[in-house]
Amino acid sequence: MIVLGIESSCDECSMALVKEGKTVLGLSTFSQIETHKTFYGVVPEIASRIHAKTIDEVFRDLLEKSQISPDSIDLIAVTNRPGLIGSLIVGVYFAKGLALSLKKPIVGVDHILAHLYSPFLSASISQPSYPYLVVLVSGGHTVIAKQNDFDYIEVLGTTLDDACGEVFDKVAKYYDLGFPGGPAIDFLAQQGNEETYNFPIPFNKSNEQDICNLSYSGLKTAVIHQSHKFLNPHKKASLANLCASFQKAAFTHLINSIERASRLTGLKQVVLGGGVIANSYLRKALKDLSQSRSISFLFPELKYCTDNGAMIAGLGFFQYLKTNSSDNLQLKPYSRVKPYKKFLK
Ligand code: KG4
Ligand code: ZN
Repeated sequence: MIVLGIESSCDECSMALVKEGKTVLGLSTFSQIETHKTFYGVVPEIASRIHAKTIDEVFRDLLEKSQISPDSIDLIAVTNRPGLIGSLIVGVYFAKGLALSLKKPIVGVDHILAHLYSPFLSASISQPSYPYLVVLVSGGHTVIAKQNDFDYIEVLGTTLDDACGEVFDKVAKYYDLGFPGGPAIDFLAQQGNEETYNFPIPFNKSNEQDICNLSYSGLKTAVIHQSHKFLNPHKKASLANLCASFQKAAFTHLINSIERASRLTGLKQVVLGGGVIANSYLRKALKDLSQSRSISFLFPELKYCTDNGAMIAGLGFFQYLKTNSSDNLQLKPYSRVKPYKKFLK
């Protein structure tokens, strides 16, 4: 079965053709970064207008690249939640138009669950049996959860304020490092010394109650407005050193919470997703941890960390197969989703 996946929940207009939920036959993405970087963030109104202008072209480019005719598409999967509403509307209505004209079934896919499917976009990687731990770290979300089924996660912890990727973007904006901030900080940090600043690690001595929750706004304030207070007296201040020390604090915090979630649930398999999972320091730190603590981590390939149509097609295929049903042309976009069930409280 060949599934067309359509993703337009934020600033990437991305489509992919995926066979049996695993083999990516083609991927075409139009990134709006060049436009939004002037504003150091995604401007929703501009994002939806650019989606409307480019979505046809992305579809044509995908068909050309993969040499597959529209008639060979068996199912259309589209992100319909959560995301920027104007951007979602463009993708969902394009998908509905296509479903109507090609007479193909359509399924609406949850963007968060799709990120958590992204490591399985390869015929050689099989999904562990449920339950397992999942960690989504992106510009909009920071969530640690227990995945019980393909469409069912129980949240163990989430950020109480800013998302992790959002803080990378804010720090980069303040220090004029470019947008999106994550890749810029990742690159600069590689030339820096992470011991230069002793930035505070949130909840380091937390009681059991907030065990897997996260918080990034205090760290953001420390890095942006109070860095001088945390400078190690024997080290030299520099942007590279600041980025390296910031990354160390941000990811030590994340890893502490993942380890707690693993201890609490007894689950040793962790599936990762989201743009921040592309970070080279984090990937190495998690690989080191897996050797020392016998926790295994499943990473998406770098190209599937950030928003992409392949993860939508992949999850859409399993959703269609497992529920044995599709949505109809009444399918609607939703900017938010009901909170996933809380596991701890
Ligand atoms: O998953 P994604 O493409 O979009 C959302 O659903 O939010 O994630 C985008 C986020 C941005 O905040 C970006 O700065 C961050 O992922 N990001 C990174 C890296 N690459 C992208 N953060 C840290 N290190 C990176 N290498
Ligand atoms: Zn995303």
